[in-house]
Amino acid sequence: MKQVARQARAEGRPTGFVPTMGALHEGHMSLVRAAMAESRPVIASIFVNPTQFGPSEDFQKYPRTLAQDRKKLEDAGVDFLFAPAPEEMYPRGFRTWVNVEGLSERLEGRARPGHFRGVTTVVLKLLEIVQPKKAFFGRKDAQQARLVGQMARDLHLDSEIVVCPIVREPDGLAMSSRNAYLRPEERRAATVLYRALDGARQSIARGERDALRIVAAMREMLRTEPLAEPDYVELADAEALEPMTRLRGVCFALLAVRIGATRLLDNLLIEERDGKVVATL
Ligand code: PAJ
Repeated sequence: MKQVARQARAEGRPTGFVPTMGALHEGHMSLVRAAMAESRPVIASIFVNPTQFGPSEDFQKYPRTLAQDRKKLEDAGVDFLFAPAPEEMYPRGFRTWVNVEGLSERLEGRARPGHFRGVTTVVLKLLEIVQPKKAFFGRKDAQQARLVGQMARDLHLDSEIVVCPIVREPDGLAMSSRNAYLRPEERRAATVLYRALDGARQSIARGERDALRIVAAMREMLRTEPLAEPDYVELADAEALEPMTRLRGVCFALLAVRIGATRLLDNLLIEERDGKVVATL
């Protein structure tokens, strides 16, 4: 992979990179298409990164569908698939970690200690190997994209971090490899995340600017779904990811909700532009 990357770089070709953990769905493929639109070669990676899973999390049972994934990437015109083995990424004696302080302890980081240390470490390693001009991430994982962008800035990386929109199922559920865990009644219940965020979007469109009231209404919507167990419901600014009391600038409404044994994430992007507030699901 390093040899391929070096050659593309030497030839001055703008490599596009889409890092994933596989079990590819339309959310992943939207990143691939964004990369294909402006980069060549396009490189995708599939690596279920053990260091971003906690000891009691789903590393072992995370869906692994390499043959189908490879076909999807081939059909989309991706030039290279990088699918290293865990021993290649973390050989015996590995001991260097990257941590984005502060941001990595909020929200997801509070619920999953050490998770983001694993994410930023593996993403830095992948960027070092692939040397892309642009690397594509989904806003579905807004905190992850924020941390990776911060890391790229702090460490003077050459790669530009591009953040792409959330791809949803027809009923609004954000696509996720973990949706495969949901039983039929859980799958129906899972739309409550979208319903809560869409409620927030509508109240913002009607002029609501009080963050606490918006959060309270989202919690209320989540309470209507008996299978939903909220982990956090927050309105946070896009820069520090700190809770807000009034909408200002760019911020996110962020949800983590357990549906049965499956933990799902979703968010609403809220942007204030020349006095107008636009919320995007
Ligand atoms: P994974 O969950 O496989 O996601 C890979 C990329 O796809 C991430 O940037 C994620 O935000 C994006 N993505 C997932 N679902 C999406 C959706 N519905 N719409 C748009 N984009 C979506 O995120 C990871 O893997 C890992 O943490 C990784 C960055 C690969 C590091 O191990």
